[in-house]
Amino acid sequence: MAKFAYATTTAIVFLILLPLSCSSESILHHHHHGGNSSVQKSDVDLLEFPLNLEYLEAEFFLYGSLGYGLDKVYPSLAQGGPSPIGAKKAHLDHFTRDVIEQFGWQEVGHLRAIKKTVKGFPRPLLNISAASFAHLVAGLLGVESGQDAVIRALLYQRAELKVEPYGITVAEFTNRISELRNKLGHEGLKDEGLVVPKHLGAEGKVSGNILVGDEYSLACGRTPEEILRIVYGSGNEHVPGSFYPKGADGRIAKSYLKNE
Ligand SMILES: *[C@@H]1O[C@H](CO)[C@@H](O)[C@H](O)[C@H]1NC(C)=O
Ligand SMILES: *[C@@H]1O[C@H](CO)[C@@H](O)[C@H](O)[C@H]1NC(C)=O
Repeated sequence: MAKFAYATTTAIVFLILLPLSCSSESILHHHHHGGNSSVQKSDVDLLEFPLNLEYLEAEFFLYGSLGYGLDKVYPSLAQGGPSPIGAKKAHLDHFTRDVIEQFGWQEVGHLRAIKKTVKGFPRPLLNISAASFAHLVAGLLGVESGQDAVIRALLYQRAELKVEPYGITVAEFTNRISELRNKLGHEGLKDEGLVVPKHLGAEGKVSGNILVGDEYSLACGRTPEEILRIVYGSGNEHVPGSFYPKGADGRIAKSYLKNE
């Protein structure tokens, strides 16, 4: 029992850190629906933008599971960008560590894939200190949908367990993270917890919500602007912070930084 509680706690760590929905991959796949914004986005810009998130995810997962990141496993991928601030190995049970390490290596693959196609940019300064996770803002990562699905399924099994020391259930926790992300993103309800009011569940019939979907149970996408608002923790694509103390890189993100 104690062991299970421990495993739950460690899963919660990742609940906080992880993604509960729309992904950086959705930008890659749906960039033609990139939305209406003041910045013109070429295909190259739209392909480079997710590098910001891939760097963050790679470092986060690698450090969390192995205790070191790109500088050790694949230094050239960082293209000379600064080492992340505050990165540490997480206290994980064997199972969770295994899953997270797999995610870490997948992110390395994604970085390689993007850089094979576009020039890219060096790793931006990342702040993945524990304190910023404690702010829940860390829960705002946009992670790829497959990883998202794995984590959601793990957590759904534990939906009714209390998260120590917060005294609220896993289900409630996911709701709060989703609310925060929706609020920061300013684009309505794109993120949902594991258990939702029935009218938000699939076809209005169920309240279990392992996978997030819109009214047709289709995946939703976020524009670069929405993602920046969320990962900066500021709700404003012009105001960097949280994971990206100096802002994200690439033409799209930089065009907003210049404006202010
Ligand atoms: C974007 O929105 C602005 C203001 O709402 C509008 O004037 C413009 O035509 C829109 N552009 C596109 C490409 O939809
Ligand atoms: C990194 O995040 C921590 C926790 O939020 C904060 O105390 C620290 O000042 C941040 N560092 C930078 C350089 O932004």
